Amino acid sequence: MCGIIGYIGNRNAIPVLINGLKRLEYRGYDSAGIAFFNGNKINVRRCAGKIKDLEVSIKGEKLRSFTGLGHTRWATHGKPSEENAHPHRSGGIVLVHNGIIENYFELKEELKGKGHVFTSETDTEVICHLIHSYSRKGLDFEAATRAALKHVEGAYAIGIINESEPDKILAVKKDSPLVLGLGEGEFFIASDIPAFLKYTKDVIILDNGEMASITRKGVSVSGIANKKPVKKEIANITWSPTMAEKGGYKHFMLKEINEQPRAIADTIRGRFSLEKGEVNLDEFSLAESELKKLNKIFLVACGTSWHAALVGKYIIEDMARVPCEVDIASEFRYRRPLLPKGSLVIVITQSGETADTLAAQRESGKLGAKVLSICNVVGSTSAREADGVFFTHSGPEIGVASTKAFTTQLTGLYLFAIALAKAKEKIRSDDIRELFNELLQLPEKVEQSLKINDAVLKIAKRFYHARDFLYLGRGINYPIALEGALKLKEISYIHAEGYPAGEMKHGPIALIDNNMPVLALAPDDKVLEKILSNMEEVKSRGGKVIAVATEGNTRVLSRASNVLFMPKTNYYLTPIIFSIPLHLLAYHMAVLKKCNVDQPRNLAKSVTVE
Ligand code: F6R
Repeated sequence: MCGIIGYIGNRNAIPVLINGLKRLEYRGYDSAGIAFFNGNKINVRRCAGKIKDLEVSIKGEKLRSFTGLGHTRWATHGKPSEENAHPHRSGGIVLVHNGIIENYFELKEELKGKGHVFTSETDTEVICHLIHSYSRKGLDFEAATRAALKHVEGAYAIGIINESEPDKILAVKKDSPLVLGLGEGEFFIASDIPAFLKYTKDVIILDNGEMASITRKGVSVSGIANKKPVKKEIANITWSPTMAEKGGYKHFMLKEINEQPRAIADTIRGRFSLEKGEVNLDEFSLAESELKKLNKIFLVACGTSWHAALVGKYIIEDMARVPCEVDIASEFRYRRPLLPKGSLVIVITQSGETADTLAAQRESGKLGAKVLSICNVVGSTSAREADGVFFTHSGPEIGVASTKAFTTQLTGLYLFAIALAKAKEKIRSDDIRELFNELLQLPEKVEQSLKINDAVLKIAKRFYHARDFLYLGRGINYPIALEGALKLKEISYIHAEGYPAGEMKHGPIALIDNNMPVLALAPDDKVLEKILSNMEEVKSRGGKVIAVATEGNTRVLSRASNVLFMPKTNYYLTPIIFSIPLHLLAYHMAVLKKCNVDQPRNLAKSVTVE
């Protein structure tokens, strides 16, 4: 997830671009750059760091241009550095991109073979070279762009300028957001509305497969492939700039919960081949021969990422039959862990900067283990120091409470388990295909699951005065009970405990009375009967049960005062679907209690101290 902005009009583009980038900084903040005309030539200025570093780097220069592009980067391919910062250029073609080009490696090799010289590690640079190569063949700006995009697979929102047609910006979109702002004799392109809301409230939202050709005289939109003109509606935005930054949501946490279908789609994009029945773990630097030899896995993390690790153990051991130990990072580093030969350590961390996780990662390296990282932030310390990384690509997570990072970590663990099970010959090709098919449906099922929001709000209204809460789960969903309880504690300050349902009768049952709501996770799986009995036990002691169950399961109705029905998925993916209502419940309780949802007291997004 990056932020792009473009301007064409009668004001000086430079301050417009810088101001727009500042409004987009929530989308990425590891490097930034702008491109603008200096006479007939395009100048590019970039730097690693934040927008203010870019601003400082051009301070005092009298830059003036009426057309320009800007970019704030959230690194996905290549570390955060000046060379990898956008805009990128090939000849007179300069562009900014948000998205992921899946086939960039093949395209890059092909172009290198034809003499193109690359100056960055990014996937984006191939697009400039492709457009440039078609321009050199004599195609005009638009035709060269259309021809180039025929080769490109993946997601993109791109703004392009060209030295040979200085009074034009082209904007193209597929699976990454792109909006156009329409002013008086001036036009904007951006990843998100706040970037230009200061100047205009009239917008056009581009749809997939569309190209906008923008000059000072106006905008025309057409299909990228079929060139057919498209008539677009102009919407008038009534949001305030802060609301707009959060995409109209009240809080970043709610926005991030709702971003999960997109985030999961980005996690799985290009990561497996349905035809070959293979997982692509290139970035993890794990050959199938290495996977075959693995005889023990350690999953190490903190907080919500530790809950992902706990789910990972259930998936890996069940699917690949390889023993898996899960450790809290701050415990692992001091317990003198025994890592037998052939062990693999996987640390899981959204930020890649959690002090305890980094210490555990370094300790594992010292003990001679190969260490991999499942991480969201490219260029973070964990990603740089690991022997291999699986980037979750969920985009920046701003809310302190982790939501989309968690479900994308689970998605990564699912893919890893399939690769391991295949290498260990514990799974048949037909079963692999079925697992992939279920994964392909996951973004849609998550989308469906989010429709539970109103029902969750009703439950929150009923229970937000509770002092304590108990969350019960079994098997693969026991860690989801822990996760639900953690979220409630951290953002609504209600005391909550997550418990393996079978353990309830060994202690916590003593707490149950009329004032103790109990949330029970009851998906249709092999332990459903057991959790139904646990719900009976709670009910018969006067406890109020809120059940989260698979749609169609009527047996929960008599045992619970409230039921949330979730879409059916396979056993391994239920933790993803079932965590959605729990994150929403914590969110609504916190809002009802008037808590600071995005910045809960005493908590930091990234815990960089021990
Ligand atoms: C809870 C939460 C924290 C983090 C933990 C680890 O909502 O966000 O528990 O999961 O601090 O952070 P990362 O994953 O960045 O290492």
